[in-house]
Amino acid sequence: MNHMKCWLCCCTFLAAVLLTGCRSGKTHIPKVWNVASIQTETHPQTLAVKKMGEIFSELTGGKYKIEVFPNELLGPQRETLEQVQYGIIEMAVMGNPNVSSFEQGFLTFEMPFLFDDLEHQKIFFETSPVVPVLFKSTDKYNFTILTYFTAGTRNIYAKKPVRNLADLKGMKIRTAESDTYAKMMSALGGAATPMSFGEVFTAIQSGVVDGAENNEASYANTKHYEIAPYYSLTKHLIVPDYLVINTKLYEALPEEDRQALQEAVRQALIYEVELWQQDAAERLEQVKKGGATIVEDVDTLQLQKAVEGLHKELTQNPKIKEVYDAVKATSKLK
Ligand code: GCU
Repeated sequence: MNHMKCWLCCCTFLAAVLLTGCRSGKTHIPKVWNVASIQTETHPQTLAVKKMGEIFSELTGGKYKIEVFPNELLGPQRETLEQVQYGIIEMAVMGNPNVSSFEQGFLTFEMPFLFDDLEHQKIFFETSPVVPVLFKSTDKYNFTILTYFTAGTRNIYAKKPVRNLADLKGMKIRTAESDTYAKMMSALGGAATPMSFGEVFTAIQSGVVDGAENNEASYANTKHYEIAPYYSLTKHLIVPDYLVINTKLYEALPEEDRQALQEAVRQALIYEVELWQQDAAERLEQVKKGGATIVEDVDTLQLQKAVEGLHKELTQNPKIKEVYDAVKATSKLK
């Protein structure tokens, strides 16, 4: 697999050099667009991107073809974001921490217990006037956010159940690479060990970490349940992913093609969000059949109280506060 990754990276790099060579100021619009994702072929986001590609191709009379590279084939997310920025690949599905490291407003979504539930996340991203402004803010880094994708609710998993703060005390938990996650883990009494997605299996297996936290799809698809068989429904994070495109390419598209792309993306989002619920339920069944235990009696209120200080600290930042207030304005619990 690693040789395959290296080979693909070399090819895309060479392709970029060649493309840059013949661009001479004018953005080259390729016929085949490569899209990177760390998820498996059957993950709702991969299926949604494929669907987006089919619709885009159909609406433009076969002018474009979307090739999806799942399973981290083109590298970890941070690297594929750079590939998008440099025009080596056209698009990628990106986790929030990679975007929040450019624009602080996105840090809001890394706050634990921010959204009431997935429905709240959907309402916020699809109706709040803050969202288009926030999405536009990354154009200056040469990547444009076409849409959010839901990435479900994240739960802690380990070799033992985690029902409360006492259970989590002193545990080393893998998180994605984000300072906010590190602060969250220490507020919950554990210690965050940041690393990229592809490294987690070995880290749990070798005991470098005691566990990790992720949504149902990632827990199941990566087979982490085989080595960390307690999936405790801590529900501490509802954090989205994004579909991003190289900004120069997006802006260079003829107007009717850009509109076709927007329509394809709109339909892909509807599909992905719908598919998520069903997929999450199926993934839970899969891990149970594989021997994992779903721990439902978690004291989420206690966890929620423990991160109140972190909410106060983060909302001192005006960029976070603005987005935070907009999220709360769309909450049913307000
Ligand atoms: C999920 C999420 C990704 C994220 C990954 C991780 O799979 O969808 O965007 O990168 O978790 O924890 O690294």
